Amino acid sequence: MKVLQKTLLITAVCCCALTACKKSTVENSTLAKAFAGKFLIGTALNSLQIFELDTLGVQIITEQFNAIVPENCMKSMYLQPEEGKFFFDEADEYVAFGEANNMWITGHCLVWHSQAPQWFFIDENGNDVSREMLIERMRSHITTVVSRYRGRIKGWDVVNEAIMDDGSWRQSKFYRIIGEDFIPLAFQFAHEADPEAELYYNDYSTAIEAKCQGIVGLVKSIQEKGLRIDAVGMQGHLNMDSPTVEEFEKSLLAFSSLGVKVMVTELDLTVLPAFRGFTGADVSANFDFKAELNPYSDSIPAEIALQQQNRYIDFFRLFLKHHDKVSRVTLWGVTDKDSWRNDWPVHGRTDYALLFDREYQPKPVVGELIKLTKQN
Ligand code: XIL
Repeated sequence: MKVLQKTLLITAVCCCALTACKKSTVENSTLAKAFAGKFLIGTALNSLQIFELDTLGVQIITEQFNAIVPENCMKSMYLQPEEGKFFFDEADEYVAFGEANNMWITGHCLVWHSQAPQWFFIDENGNDVSREMLIERMRSHITTVVSRYRGRIKGWDVVNEAIMDDGSWRQSKFYRIIGEDFIPLAFQFAHEADPEAELYYNDYSTAIEAKCQGIVGLVKSIQEKGLRIDAVGMQGHLNMDSPTVEEFEKSLLAFSSLGVKVMVTELDLTVLPAFRGFTGADVSANFDFKAELNPYSDSIPAEIALQQQNRYIDFFRLFLKHHDKVSRVTLWGVTDKDSWRNDWPVHGRTDYALLFDREYQPKPVVGELIKLTKQN
């Protein structure tokens, strides 16, 4: 009985997938085809997509995108929840998916204060580990993970979110225990494990001038040590009124002037009200749900959808203008229902942050973005 149900479900899902396939081919083109020769166009994959259970989502991914990044499964708390015990099942599937579909495969992320397992920073008595021990744990984690996918994962977010909005160092355990050196060490270990892989520094709110300057200093210090760094990832978790395109452009140019590529790594655009002006992408932020913070629980008003479309177009116009500097633009998810912004920084809202709607249909913006590539 169970088998029959599963077969019926798969058949139903496959039929829908064909419909979705037809409808999501806009203007006889796709995002991947339209942006070819400009920059890679990517998306983040969740577990249902990696294991190909979300058939409709997979259809969009393989048709519209040519680059992928794992939304969660390669973070250290999932890869190494206990010291020395690695769980690679999902990460292996992710890489196999990318290879089967001929995609640019990025690894996200090796060193991050967030979504790291508790044990990483403490000893058996619960005290902070020594500097030497943390360096060794970092080395062992990076070496194990990067060498497993050597030659297959093309680029790594080596360090994520080490700089604060005012340009100062984030007081993470990595920083407090190791000091500034944790960054060059992480880049060195990653390079030793796969000399061919591209290596990136990735952060949010990079359009804030002070933060941008902090990151510029950080990249220079890596370069001055003769270490490999290929690109700065500008996460791109946008709000409707911040940052401005001009602010984003200023930072893009500042990073590019260092001789590295720029990537827009985690693009989404919330249409929901910010809690007391809160922006950024600090994953630990968590504000209480209030109905007034969730104004479009049934549907998005046409004028808001249009405003969002125009803002997406403005940003993609910028990316196209600088396509010689931008190597990849990656959306942080496929459809609106997949987006982390439904639950962050307020849990349980209904957001419309991405390019495909909850019915797996391309929003009109997809056609507009494709048209935009023809004008440049
Ligand atoms: C987010 C995921 O989308 C969520 O599913 C998870 O609960 C928290 O992390 N910056 C990053 C990403 O570098 O890894 C984060 O992803 C979003 C902010």
